[in-house]
Amino acid sequence: MSKSELLRAAHIDAIAVPRHVAIIMDGNGRWAAARGLPRAEGHRRGVEALRRTVRAAGDLGIQFLTIFSFSAENWSRPSTEIRELMMLLRRFVRHDLAELHSNGVRVRVIGERENLADDIRRLLDEAEQLTKNNDKLVLVVAFNYGARQEIARAAQRLAAAVSAGDLAVSAVTADKLASYLDAPDLPDPDLIIRTSGEQRLSNFLLWQAAYSELVFVPIYWPDFDHATLESAITEYRRRERRFGGLVARTGS
Ligand code: FPP
Repeated sequence: MSKSELLRAAHIDAIAVPRHVAIIMDGNGRWAAARGLPRAEGHRRGVEALRRTVRAAGDLGIQFLTIFSFSAENWSRPSTEIRELMMLLRRFVRHDLAELHSNGVRVRVIGERENLADDIRRLLDEAEQLTKNNDKLVLVVAFNYGARQEIARAAQRLAAAVSAGDLAVSAVTADKLASYLDAPDLPDPDLIIRTSGEQRLSNFLLWQAAYSELVFVPIYWPDFDHATLESAITEYRRRERRFGGLVARTGS
């Protein structure tokens, strides 16, 4: 190990990172408006912040990073903005996939894929397929995602199993329902970060967030970087996680 690698390893150990971090990347529009720029510029700078954050997550030893890229509710935005966000996703996958792959990043996608454009569906499938054996960092892209919709999809799959006679009604437990969610093998997020100062979950990972620590960062997403991620983790480490019990467990 080189000296800088050793220093980095010691630093990572010192700040004991959460295993799964999920981020609501909010404030692109306000970042742009504050500078008299079009909202699209805010989204473009948001993609740059995303690139920085994926790198920072890998450097810090985070194993799972979930990002809220496009919500099921974002369809209500003007069509020009929807087109811009779809174009940014296309570009992100086309331009960044090779680098993500060579850095050992595995891409997973959650959300409803049925009503997406064919080429976007294909790109998302390809990204998952190409990177499926990588294990340095799992990047979970929540795209066309809404938590209530995800839970309803799980309930539908579960009901289908019951009506096919493959599952007894008495076997329906919280764990069983969770096994029908979009990515049931992923651990729940330890830490959920939302930028822009808004303090709500906005239909993001409602099931999985049951015991997550929530950290709200008062900066707009395009300004997010390694230092902001580290300070959110420091805040997380100050919290005591009890999981409903009495024995405190630190966030390490
Ligand atoms: C919130 O900003 C952000 C989004 C709508 C989605 C996040 C999108 C990106 C970071 C860029 C696209 C990345 C990919 C991979 C598609 P906002 O528009 O809600 O900001 P505002 O609340 O200030 O208007």
